[in-house]
Amino acid sequence: MSEAAIIDGKAFAAGLRVKVARQVAALKAGHGLTPGLAVVLVGADPASEIYVRNKHAQTLEAGMNSFEFKRAADVTQDGLLGLVRELNADPRVHGILVQLPLPKPLVEQPITQAIDPDKDVDGLHVINAGRLASGLPGLFPCTPTGCMMLIEDRLGPDLSGKRAIVLGRSNLVGKPIAQMLLRANATVTMAHSRTDDLPAECRRADIVVAAVGKPEMVRGGWIKHGAVVIDVGINRIPRDGGGTRVVGDVCFAEAKERAAAITPVPGGVGPMTIATLLHNTVIAACRQAGVEEPKV
Ligand SMILES: NC(=O)c1ccc[n+]([C@@H]2O[C@H](COP(=O)([O-])OP(=O)(O)OC[C@H]3O[C@@H](n4cnc5c(N)ncnc54)[C@H](OP(=O)(O)O)[C@@H]3O)[C@@H](O)[C@H]2O)c1
Repeated sequence: MSEAAIIDGKAFAAGLRVKVARQVAALKAGHGLTPGLAVVLVGADPASEIYVRNKHAQTLEAGMNSFEFKRAADVTQDGLLGLVRELNADPRVHGILVQLPLPKPLVEQPITQAIDPDKDVDGLHVINAGRLASGLPGLFPCTPTGCMMLIEDRLGPDLSGKRAIVLGRSNLVGKPIAQMLLRANATVTMAHSRTDDLPAECRRADIVVAAVGKPEMVRGGWIKHGAVVIDVGINRIPRDGGGTRVVGDVCFAEAKERAAAITPVPGGVGPMTIATLLHNTVIAACRQAGVEEPKV
């Protein structure tokens, strides 16, 4: 059997950013509307700082307004809530993202739930989770949205008759991607740390989405011949000879021998997240301004 096609998320994301930039230009010219994204960063976690810097650069590159709010790690819960409320009320801000994780002792849930659901471009508000589960329009989490774009690009928008398995049940990735697959008519299994015989569950699936945060947990023998494999995992492991390297939740070298198509790590799902965040911000801006939303 031939080797899997490699799904190039980096190229797909670059294409999506170009489309978003065109949509922004049209909104500015046609409606005088410039979508604005506010990102809140608390503390000085180096990984979060890199993400926020990239978001800022790519937001500006798409022609949107980018507002950055940095707060020291000792900001109070009330101080942060106050900032979120100010952003909720600011008409220049159409999308709000609070970079997670927040440093302790801050509690994330009250902060994410204080964001106006119509500006919740990270899709973490319970109203948006409910809208997704109920098949209603809303703003949905960026990484799962990016995964679905890659799956649809491969298999088309209707997954009728396909079996999908989602490994992991987080609110950020596992649960929303399972809902999106269900919406697209796939028959969905959700697996997690208490699931019996994961390899056998996986081998039944035409679509495997791995979001467990366990380096190379999914082995080649778990993959059905011809499956599409979407690897969400980002795990840093020691490199032979020193230093570290990033691997996914799937053993890429083994899985590509059986899959029809597979995302690499890095360069697969990862780059899609910011591109879909920009797309969500455009959607949010259009809805707030009462302008028809552009299609991807
Ligand atoms: N932009 C991106 O590309 C992006 C975005 C977000 C996350 N990620 C990556 O995706 C991965 C998952 O992130 P997350 O936030 O969803 O993680 P998470 O909140 O830690 O959730 C992990 C999930 O995996 C399940 N799990 C853990 N060990 C397992 C095992 N041995 N067998 C089966 N299931 C197991 C857990 O099950 P229980 O619920 O039973 O504990 C949990 O549901 C991480 O590597 C993260 O870095 C990437």
